[in-house]
Amino acid sequence: MRIVILGPPGAGKGTQAIEIAQARRITHISTGDVFRAASDSGTRMGLKAQEYMSAGKLVPDEVVIGVVEERLKQDDCTGGFMLDGFPRTLPQAEALDRILAAMGTRLDAVINIATPDEVCEKRLSGRRLCPQCKRGYHILWMPPKEDGKCDDCGASLIQRADDRPESVEERLRQYHEQTASLIDYYSGTGVLIDIPGDQGVEALADAIELKLDVLSSA
Ligand code: AP5
Repeated sequence: MRIVILGPPGAGKGTQAIEIAQARRITHISTGDVFRAASDSGTRMGLKAQEYMSAGKLVPDEVVIGVVEERLKQDDCTGGFMLDGFPRTLPQAEALDRILAAMGTRLDAVINIATPDEVCEKRLSGRRLCPQCKRGYHILWMPPKEDGKCDDCGASLIQRADDRPESVEERLRQYHEQTASLIDYYSGTGVLIDIPGDQGVEALADAIELKLDVLSSA
């Protein structure tokens, strides 16, 4: 399947996208992860993207669209993909349609995890990440076995720079200004799956799977 997952920052897109991609054997592409990896490697594009990310702003469309177009042409995307964090603006959504049409395909599902801002804020303030193996945690709802250490590789967990309250506020503002309207963009397409995000990880995963099964058997 070719799937997009939408939702405000902290809705749980990454958490669900990883599980769905594994279960359906499709490639998980997170534009946030792509930019963080490029920034860690010190590439010019990565360092520029990091300036926008730290301020809670969106990376310019022309940069993001080019990155995604290249990524979707790679062999591991031919069997399907899960796009997490893209599209985030109307020009990105229109570009994605064009890119897929040129490849002779289209989206099978767009999952919207509808989550209130106050829930997102709580999730982001408690999020911790392993800088080595990239596993994610939450200090209240998905804590590591040993405080501050990754269960898998033992590295010390970190907090993302853009999970500071002032960045989170800006990210939510950007979401409402630029991304929320994509729900309308996809609403007439017959592939939009709307799921309330204010529920536990397992319940959310079950609800999404159920709707994806219906779409894929249609
Ligand atoms: P990105 O990395 O995509 O960040 P985001 O969209 O803000 O989303 P997050 O990763 O913060 O949250 P999430 O919804 O994935 O939640 P998660 O599963 O981690 O992008 C970062 C930046 O890159 C952007 O701000 C922008 O600058 C740039 N960028 C990326 N793509 C771009 C694009 N297309 N255009 C322009 N710029 C772009 O969960 C959060 C926490 O909650 C975790 O601790 C988790 O354990 C916990 N949790 C998850 N689900 C639940 C649940 N159901 N119940 C309780 N806790 C939960």
